[in-house]
Amino acid sequence: MPRHVSSKWKKTAALMGSVSLRRLVPETTRFEGAKLRSALERYGMVYIKPESGTHGKGVMRAEILGDGRYRLRYGKRTQTYSSCGAMADEIRRSIRGRRYLIQRGIRLLKHKGRVFDLRVMAQLTPRKMWRTTGMIGRVAAPGKIVTNYHSGGRLAPVNRLLSGHMGENSARSTLRTLERIGVNAGQALRRKYPGVCEVGVDIGMDRSLKPWIIEVNTSPDPYIFRKLPDPSIFKRIRRYARAYGRK
Ligand SMILES: Nc1ncnc2c1ncn2[C@@H]1O[C@H](COP(=O)(O)OP(=O)(O)O)[C@@H](O)[C@H]1O
Ligand SMILES: [Mg+2]
Repeated sequence: MPRHVSSKWKKTAALMGSVSLRRLVPETTRFEGAKLRSALERYGMVYIKPESGTHGKGVMRAEILGDGRYRLRYGKRTQTYSSCGAMADEIRRSIRGRRYLIQRGIRLLKHKGRVFDLRVMAQLTPRKMWRTTGMIGRVAAPGKIVTNYHSGGRLAPVNRLLSGHMGENSARSTLRTLERIGVNAGQALRRKYPGVCEVGVDIGMDRSLKPWIIEVNTSPDPYIFRKLPDPSIFKRIRRYARAYGRK
């Protein structure tokens, strides 16, 4: 029974099997030029990413501008095109036959002008129940379209990031919602892949404060939680991981 599932396409399908999570998953399709145009017409902005990528590598962001031109962002580069076809040609050149996905783009909340998202870690407890054991915010480097720590993102306490956008009571209820999403995502993945014992859910909040599940990782990095001021969180994550045999 594999513990790790690398395909974001398969993991998205697993999430869609959960009635409560389905509406939190941005529409996702396999990359094709024709689908790019229709997704952009529907959503205005989309992310294009490798089906089995990590660390934010290969992630692109495409959008339609107000004047009808198209913009592609990749790393720190920005290119503008007069047609969707020209942009699709450029995307095809850089993905060179590898499998990529198109996902509805979420206009993420910002902290001091930089986009951020949240990493929610859920694990199987030693008594075989799912529990959310850690949460941390990730703030993109200036001008970047990905928040990943390995792409220059910075870690920050979730409360600090949320407090810029909501009051204390809403922040408390948002934390409970995020905990529930972690547990539901763990259950949804394990239902399809019974070897899965831990998940790291990337959750983006849009400007109406709706949470969206950007992706689920099945071998999430536990060490980011060492950055939290409370050391007991990382200790518990490690203890649970040892119980299901992760070194
Ligand atoms: N649909 C999306 N809307 C907004 N931001 C996104 C979207 N997809 C990816 N991102 C940004 O790119 C980062 C990396 O994408 P992700 O799907 O998590 O792949 P990876 O496996 O490389 O981490 C996310 O953490 C988020 O900051
Ligand atoms: Mg990710």
